[in-house]
Amino acid sequence: MFEIYKVNFFIKFSKENLIVFLFLQVETNSMLGLQFETETSWVAVAKNGLEQLLIDHAFAEQKAAANAMSITINYSEETELVRDMMDIAIEEMEHFKMVHELMIARGMVLGQATKNDYAIKLQKFFTKTHDRTEALVQRLLVAALIEARSCERFKVFADNMEDEELCKFYHDLMISEANHYTLFLGYARKYMDTDYVNEKWNALLAYEAQMMKERGGLAKVHG
Ligand SMILES: [Fe+2]
Ligand SMILES: [Fe+2]
Repeated sequence: MFEIYKVNFFIKFSKENLIVFLFLQVETNSMLGLQFETETSWVAVAKNGLEQLLIDHAFAEQKAAANAMSITINYSEETELVRDMMDIAIEEMEHFKMVHELMIARGMVLGQATKNDYAIKLQKFFTKTHDRTEALVQRLLVAALIEARSCERFKVFADNMEDEELCKFYHDLMISEANHYTLFLGYARKYMDTDYVNEKWNALLAYEAQMMKERGGLAKVHG
């Protein structure tokens, strides 16, 4: 109960907030709407390739910050959105710093970024549009799903690792990413008709579930 109050920016109450709360309380992997549950066998892969996992994770945090920044640049007239995206960008860079410091403490080096094929494939789900609002909604839905899957993976990791430091680290991050998921999805529903957005969201969830069936073999956050 205490943990839910540790998020460092204000989130309006919504159905998704309730889902996040339940997700954290009852430990059910499907509460985020995800249609495919990560198998615990992935934890062994992640554990055996910990440096690769942390490198991938560090860059995923940077990309999440960059995406939030990009939204503020492209939709600068949306004051409330810009405020919240700036909060997310700052928080994601804090996450990047935390992962990087953890790596340094363990004698690891960040190394070169590799492409995030998970995010690239997700982005391909939507047909490119010249409608500015629809383009924003597409971006918000993809971002929401990346956050949801990150949250799920962090939870699987935290629940199944013996390393106490890493368990706590990923448990804390999981809460933060769950709230980002809520925020992105909430904004998507704000900018277009809710039924239309829900239809797109459900289709994206199904597409992602198909993708994830072929994954679980790489030491990457979404690998
Ligand atoms: Fe993050
Ligand atoms: Fe996030």
